[in-house]
Amino acid sequence: MSAGQPGRPGVVVSGMRPTGRLHLGHLLGTLRNWVALQADHRCHFFVADWHVLTTDYEKPRDVGGFAEEMVLDWLAAGIDPERSIVFRQSAIAEHAELALLFGMFTPVPWLERNPTYKEQREQLVDRDLSTYGFLGYPVLQAADILLYKANGVPVGVDQAPHVELTREIARRFNHLYGETFPEPQALLSPVSKVPGTDGRKMSKSYGNAIQLDEDPGQIEARLGRMATDPRRARRTDPGDPADCPAHALHRVYDTPDELEWVDRGCKTAGIGCLECKKVMIRHVVEDLEPFREKRRELAARPGWVREVIEDGTSKARAIARTTMAEVRSAIGFAVPGGGDS
Ligand code: TRP
Ligand code: SF4
Repeated sequence: MSAGQPGRPGVVVSGMRPTGRLHLGHLLGTLRNWVALQADHRCHFFVADWHVLTTDYEKPRDVGGFAEEMVLDWLAAGIDPERSIVFRQSAIAEHAELALLFGMFTPVPWLERNPTYKEQREQLVDRDLSTYGFLGYPVLQAADILLYKANGVPVGVDQAPHVELTREIARRFNHLYGETFPEPQALLSPVSKVPGTDGRKMSKSYGNAIQLDEDPGQIEARLGRMATDPRRARRTDPGDPADCPAHALHRVYDTPDELEWVDRGCKTAGIGCLECKKVMIRHVVEDLEPFREKRRELAARPGWVREVIEDGTSKARAIARTTMAEVRSAIGFAVPGGGDS
């Protein structure tokens, strides 16, 4: 996976909404992807706090507190502030300015046919999402991405339509006002849709998530009860790993030999489900141990997360200002003495 041209580091941007502590799905599906990209890309990772308001405008909650907790999880997972720029979206008003300008030429039907828009409006029935802000969610996301002229956007498959829309917005801007933005690619995570203990997509709101700070005993107990192929109701009934939610975690963690053992044992009823899951559970516990240790260590450094965010914000702001000066001049809105420096 790479973005940009050979021999030149690509520019990567991605964001996450601060809605609480992270779980195993975030670690495997998103963070590991981010951490790997740091090796050879200039990465920008931000807390998408304005995006929270598109659905939770009635109760913005403690997004500030969540932001720092979430960034601590990022850092414990291996995001390196010496290499990557870490910041909060709402600290950089240029995101809003660029989103406003993009909104001028983004056709409403592009937004209405966005699959996430339709889906979420049906699912989140407890609030009124017939708002301008919610419809415009992907326009703000396009601004987040293009403000830093990203070539690559690491996201899960569910976000791919938003990156596609970003490309269309970039193309339209370039066509109207002159070549300014690259057309970014979605860099899909190799691990997508990590299932939770009940087999549905892992999500805090389903109560099926393995939190990153759970202790080993808890992890063992909860994964020990994780959903398996329903055909294996009795120990003697054979099953198929392809129909087993727990097997998704085997695929992430097991060695080829272990996978082979699981496959044969499952299909011949040679092994029991708990016996099978124990192999994967040991991997999960071993994987999370260093994470928890690092997080404890980092949490003991008072004020450090805040410093990381402040430092990242000033770096991001400098880039954002440069892009906006270019954008204003492209559309003929450069303001004399307007502070475009
Ligand atoms: N929409 C993304 C999500 O829900 C979060 C996000 C906001 C984002 N802006 C972004 C992701 C820019 C990548 C790039 O997960
Ligand atoms: Fe899943 Fe393993 Fe049970 Fe097969 S034996 S259903 S792969 S837990």
